[in-house]
Amino acid sequence: MTLILGIETSCDETAAAVVQNGRQIHSTVVASQADLHAPYGGVFPEVASRAHVEVISAVVQQAMQEADASYDDLLAVAVTRGPGLAGSLLVGVNFAKGLAFGRKLPLVGVNHLEGHVYSLWLTEAGDSLEFPVLALIVSGGHTELVLMRGHGIYEHLGGTQDDAAGEAFDKVARLLELGYPGGPAIQKAAAGGRDSAYDFPQARTASPYDFSFSGLKTAVLREVTVQPRKRGEERDAPLRPNLRVPDVAASFQKAVVEALVEKTLKAAADHGATAILIAGGVSANRLLRAEMRNRAQVPVFYPPLHLCTDNAAMIAAAGFFRYMQGQRDDLAMDVQPMWPLQNLPAMAGPAMAGVEEVS
Ligand code: KG4
Ligand code: ZN
Repeated sequence: MTLILGIETSCDETAAAVVQNGRQIHSTVVASQADLHAPYGGVFPEVASRAHVEVISAVVQQAMQEADASYDDLLAVAVTRGPGLAGSLLVGVNFAKGLAFGRKLPLVGVNHLEGHVYSLWLTEAGDSLEFPVLALIVSGGHTELVLMRGHGIYEHLGGTQDDAAGEAFDKVARLLELGYPGGPAIQKAAAGGRDSAYDFPQARTASPYDFSFSGLKTAVLREVTVQPRKRGEERDAPLRPNLRVPDVAASFQKAVVEALVEKTLKAAADHGATAILIAGGVSANRLLRAEMRNRAQVPVFYPPLHLCTDNAAMIAAAGFFRYMQGQRDDLAMDVQPMWPLQNLPAMAGPAMAGVEEVS
């Protein structure tokens, strides 16, 4: 059997999954800490790592049970090594090390962003993709436009100059008192609003493939709060009375989606991409999915909702492809809280062909 156990603890989800051939999910378990962090309007790192410690053992056991797998069935243990919160990453990495050592299994460290990209290989899209494809990775910590020329070969075309797209959703949701996580909350509020109510600006960026969302956040802040007497005091100012929150949410969501779609389509056309992949938590956004599909000249693929946000199936999938390329890590493997996708060792093409043959 070609089962990989994936483990993911880079942020506020403790997750484990068992995946066959990097493509078929046998189990995927996600314990979300969202409720724990909700009072803070964002992830509280110290709280996150301790919560991972409390549940990781049960989450891994549940994934193994639901897959009806024993440790002897496993090809390897794949774990998110970064990017992410150092303390959170350490919990997953050390758990995976213990398991690999105790059960004499190979250990494979996986880049979380590569995991998001490989969530598409857990869907039918993985049957037909031909390189180069353009990947837009949009999450709470990242907004990256990456040209994928082959398995594991990434050319970084652009990214955010300030806030990530998901971070912008989270910050504006906090401002509008809509709760955490902000993306789903804004999407829900926006459904009842007019997206033309406010004309929020598109940021200018040095490169056509870069993004900037902090100006948009400030523009929202100015529109929705009572004007303070002194400049710079907007942050503590109360919301305007009679503010129509759904209108703000809809106009803000449209502005973010517009920036993401425009730049992605330009990058896809400029680089001859055969398809566009959207991955990461923000790829759950309905407007983003619809706009990208409606306007793209090439097929657009995104994962089902439960594979958009953080999960371990995507880590097991990427881990499988890395394993097939011969990657083996040892107990000296450290976490990499800052780990750009473009610094990964390439996965050269030929060994990928072997994927189907292993059984
Ligand atoms: O990939 P992810 O689960 O975690 C990170 O790696 O960061 O992404 C979480 C982010 C959060 O910022 C959340 O607000 C956003 O994804 N998100 C959404 C939606 N669902 C989750 N943003 C917009 N619309 C959504 N429906
Ligand atoms: Zn993520």
